Amino acid sequence: MARQRGLRFPDGFLWGTASSSYQCEGGNTNNQWYRWEQRGQILTGEQCGEACDWWENAEDDFALAEQMEHNALRLSLEWSRIEPAEGQWDSAPLDRYRAMLTDLRHRHIKPIVTLHHFTDPLWFTDRGGFEDEANIRYFVRYVTRAVQSLQDLCDFWVTINEPNIYAFMGYVLGSFPPGEHDTTRAIHVLRNLMQAHVEAFYAIRRLQPQSEIGYCLHYHILDPANELSPLDRSVAGIQDTFFTWAAIRAAETGHFTFPLNLLLPPIPHAPGSRDYHGVNYYTREMVRFDPTRPAEVFGRRFVHPNTVRNDPGKGVDFGEIYPYGIYRVLKSLYHRTRGNKPIYITENGFSDAQDDRRPRAILEHLAMIHRAISEGIPVSGYLYWTLVDNFEWAEGWGVRFGLVELDPETQDRIPRSSASMFGEICRANAITEEIVERYAPKALDFIFRATNGAAQQVTV
Ligand code: BGC
Repeated sequence: MARQRGLRFPDGFLWGTASSSYQCEGGNTNNQWYRWEQRGQILTGEQCGEACDWWENAEDDFALAEQMEHNALRLSLEWSRIEPAEGQWDSAPLDRYRAMLTDLRHRHIKPIVTLHHFTDPLWFTDRGGFEDEANIRYFVRYVTRAVQSLQDLCDFWVTINEPNIYAFMGYVLGSFPPGEHDTTRAIHVLRNLMQAHVEAFYAIRRLQPQSEIGYCLHYHILDPANELSPLDRSVAGIQDTFFTWAAIRAAETGHFTFPLNLLLPPIPHAPGSRDYHGVNYYTREMVRFDPTRPAEVFGRRFVHPNTVRNDPGKGVDFGEIYPYGIYRVLKSLYHRTRGNKPIYITENGFSDAQDDRRPRAILEHLAMIHRAISEGIPVSGYLYWTLVDNFEWAEGWGVRFGLVELDPETQDRIPRSSASMFGEICRANAITEEIVERYAPKALDFIFRATNGAAQQVTV
């Protein structure tokens, strides 16, 4: 036992990683992403294939998480396995999920289960997917079935991962299926996903009154390129509203903000339909007024020059590493929702194959979260994206977010230095000066100054 300067996190804080079925399981051939991939739409031309082989061997990676003393792990269920054709249910996948969740619990790792992480069964896509409000009932029926089967093993549910990314990437930028460029359809899809969340929330609540239920949104900082330009400021503000805060407001009140409310009907029973706020935060972008971009409400986004960056993808620039952004997001969310629910960081991660920026990035983001907590914002957990390098949607295998490096050909794993650092933080429930000195000494000043004197003596 030694005493040293550090930032201690609240007792019971959840520490772990997040992942999704398609990106990790392997062998998923019955959803719209597989079809997309078969059509050669992945920018590298790669295929997900066996992914991280979790369908066979997830437990080996869960053992790594246990060694790192994680106490939580977020994974998703693959709807297209559980209901491979409309109204046909397969019990074998549910047995496999039961085995995974049981294994996690034996390792004292709390399972956090996402019910929808970007993938839809093909039959659902062919019926119009979330473009059609009438299809929400299929999602709720699947959720009910899945929760009935797994509720003795899980009491923490994420209904839908990032409705805003699903709508924006699929229907505005077109880099996710169905590859559309149609802003009106995008906002209808966003609305239907929010309604799907609300209905799923009540379906789960009825089955499992004590569970924690919410959804995660992607929070993206959008700053005006020129603070002094009213046009830059207003397009950045409009993009920010469309991308993030409109969905939050709809979930809180059932109503979309003007002018979206002119197009989108209210969502019944929305107020109160979640137990926590799930925050996925990665980066910020700058926005400049650009009259040639009507689909993006006349804003051209770009990465702030001269900043520390993630490794780029082939199509997406994963952008700036901007720790202060997570603090800004937490403050903003807390104030806009009047601090009404606990907050979990359900994803935060960095693509860095060499692992030469990740340790510092993790430390600085955690320091910013700690600052938010010390100012009274109720953050209750942090899930790093992701445990093992996995198949990155439109980008394939090229970008590496894992704490553990994966060779998808051989399935060999090599833990990165970040893995042991994060393990030490989880074990200590704190960032200590000694950890920072060993893994990212250049972060010392930022960590202990930017947290406004919240450092204390901690025993580890
Ligand atoms: C998604 C993950 C994805 C990550 C990195 C998040 O928006 O939920 O599935 O891998 O970003 O791009």
